[in-house]
Amino acid sequence: MTDWSTLVVPALAKLEPFALGETLADVQARHGLEEAVKLNWNENLFGPLPGVVEAVRDELENLSLYPEQVNRAFCEEVAHYAGTVPERIVPGHGTLALIGSLASAFLGPGDHAVVPALSYGLYAQLSAVRGATIERVPLRDLALDLDAMARAAREKKARVVWICDPNNPTGSVVGTGEWEGFLDALPEGCVTVVDEAYIDYLPADGRAHRERDVESGRPVVVLRSFSKFFGLAGLRLGYAIVDEALAAYLGVVDEPFNVNCAGLAAGRACLRATDAAERRRSEVAEAREALSRGLREAGAEPLPAAANFVLARVDVDDLELADRLAGRGLLIRPGSDFGLPGYVRITVGPAALMDRVTAEVRDAHETLRR
Ligand SMILES: Cc1ncc(COP(=O)(O)O)c(C=O)c1O
Repeated sequence: MTDWSTLVVPALAKLEPFALGETLADVQARHGLEEAVKLNWNENLFGPLPGVVEAVRDELENLSLYPEQVNRAFCEEVAHYAGTVPERIVPGHGTLALIGSLASAFLGPGDHAVVPALSYGLYAQLSAVRGATIERVPLRDLALDLDAMARAAREKKARVVWICDPNNPTGSVVGTGEWEGFLDALPEGCVTVVDEAYIDYLPADGRAHRERDVESGRPVVVLRSFSKFFGLAGLRLGYAIVDEALAAYLGVVDEPFNVNCAGLAAGRACLRATDAAERRRSEVAEAREALSRGLREAGAEPLPAAANFVLARVDVDDLELADRLAGRGLLIRPGSDFGLPGYVRITVGPAALMDRVTAEVRDAHETLRR
């Protein structure tokens, strides 16, 4: 028998696959459900923007060709949307692929990477795969502690600091004043990667314009996703905004044509649906407010939220609550899954669905209260 643990790189032998929590199929089987709604993975529950499905269908005419032209057109349109130039756009098959590419570009055995604890788990995982040592910096009041992260980066001479803004799973947003001070406090030779997977939920005037940091030559990389606000999770599409010289290095790390033509065409169509996107942003904000209000009325304590999910402290066991809602066809994420017992994270969906969820949470609070 081959012992694969002796053949994979040493870092890999010590790691477990990333835990996604229970899948839809698992829950349906466990509860004998015909149908269930996923409010546990922060997917887009509002459906694609107008013109997206048609654009994908049209692009399928080209499926026998490598996606060269559509790739170039995508970079041009994204650059226009993001306020930068096409040479600074690096597409990837999801933000996750780009997190891996950046980890490969900057990290190896003996290097240190700073991550917030709690945040999206893949920064630590994909850095550790490259052999890096992970420095976890606790949150302060459930928000990123940028001072402590910069301190950890200086102490460990970290090569990379991973930032998630808005942060998953807490929903906290980094203030623009705070951001400048943070960059100044980092040591020489340290790259900041900011995952802005949820940034499109914020109104344009509420966003940090980090493309300007890239433009001004700071060691900053910005990551964006089409999975969340634009609802293309199944097509796997994201992009990085980087310095041109780094784009060339990422071109070495990534295989050419790593994003498929349907995904790229869908991304372009999303960016063209500007009016619908604006309306969608308001619709999500209203639904998010309704969810937070309903949760408060149900006896939970929702945190301020800016994206398509709400983290709330609950007065009952989070695992029991999630299980009870799952039994009624509503999948929510118990905080115990990511080290925050006593909290649940719920994806924002259309208003009627939010009413259903908050009614169930109210019911559960009445019957399960400790
Ligand atoms: C913070 C964050 N970054 C990245 C991702 C994954 O993005 P993508 O689908 O673009 O790979 C997620 C998905 O939940 C996320 O929450």
